[in-house]
Amino acid sequence: MSYNDRFIRACRKEQVDRVPVWYMRQAGRYDPEYRKIKEKYSLLEICRQPELAAEVTLMPVKKLGVDAAILYSDIMNPVASIGIDFDIVPNVGPVIDNPIRTAADVAKLRPIDVEGDLSHVLDTIRILDRELDVPLITFAGAPFTIASYLIEGRPSKSYIRTKSLMYGDPAVWHQLMDKLGDMVIAYLRAHMAAGGKAFQLFDSWVGALAPDDFRRFVLPTIERIFDELSDLPQPKIYFPGVASGELLPTLGSVKADVIGLDWRVPITEGRRRLGGGFAVQGNLDPYVLTAPMDVVKSYAKGIIDEGIAQPGFIFNLGHGLFPEASLDKLRELTSYIHKYSAEAIAGSKREEARHA
Ligand code: CP3
Repeated sequence: MSYNDRFIRACRKEQVDRVPVWYMRQAGRYDPEYRKIKEKYSLLEICRQPELAAEVTLMPVKKLGVDAAILYSDIMNPVASIGIDFDIVPNVGPVIDNPIRTAADVAKLRPIDVEGDLSHVLDTIRILDRELDVPLITFAGAPFTIASYLIEGRPSKSYIRTKSLMYGDPAVWHQLMDKLGDMVIAYLRAHMAAGGKAFQLFDSWVGALAPDDFRRFVLPTIERIFDELSDLPQPKIYFPGVASGELLPTLGSVKADVIGLDWRVPITEGRRRLGGGFAVQGNLDPYVLTAPMDVVKSYAKGIIDEGIAQPGFIFNLGHGLFPEASLDKLRELTSYIHKYSAEAIAGSKREEARHA
């Protein structure tokens, strides 16, 4: 099969013959074959075996027919290299024994050594670069989202300790953002050198902030990450996570190609709030997948109709897949997106030709 570059073309707002689709968390527990591997190995053990990590990355590409692969890893992986011991606890998430709470804790963080500590990640990318016939997306967690785990010590709903440091000691907060920003820049640059074809910066929890606080405490670091990586030719995606609709108008200065939308903001409205510079990606509520297939398709159709109204649209979910999702429904959804969008795009081209 020839290389499928529709995802890259859509990131660049170029013409496509059908809408490209991938799913956040497309490698995961909804797949029985993945659950089998997880009986033997933890997430971190899989990541440390490049052949196995590459195989897990490939599974959803083969099974679902998606237009991009996403590296099997976790946003926490690089923090091991800056001096943080963590574990990924099943059904909980990242857990840290010695959370960061003070200026001294921040001062202790080391610069990342990607080649020295994370060569397994680069090896996985190199294997996938050889094996894939769709683009490989790599990713990093954004500074706020990583900081929320480092400071809370475990997943949180309120981000009380994170916000307490942010509001209570802005100087230390900015030092932490600077160090995590440096980590992300070096890590993603190494991914792209190893063969990554695009990257996504996951800021899953930054929607917990009001727009003014996002602007003051987080946005400068997001701008710096995309500025410092702007020499790279690969498309760059910023996903401001769940409940991020109010943040969209603040993102105009970010040198990303694509912004990921959650399901609370319709695609057209998201584009309006972003101001027209970006391609957009999203945004089916993942839990719509619990509904009968005709309901799922009608939601997907609505999203596609808005998405293809302008160049630069990638179908995705508004957040990651969940363990109870159905492999069969995902497969059917993927082929529906391809088929329906191909017809709709061909139809609007015929329409244009008639009026020309
Ligand atoms: O998308 C993919 O298929 C690639 C793999 C991927 C994982 N984590 C593997 C994983 C990606 C892109 C991530 C990113 C990630 N990790 C994010 C950002 C995306 C998002 O969902 O907002 C966040 C916040 C994390 C931190 C994290 N890791 C959480 C909250 C959890 C869930 C805990 C649980 O058990 O429900 C994890 C564990 C994790 N990372 C799993 C997977 C497949 C599930 C547990 C497992 O299979 O071991």
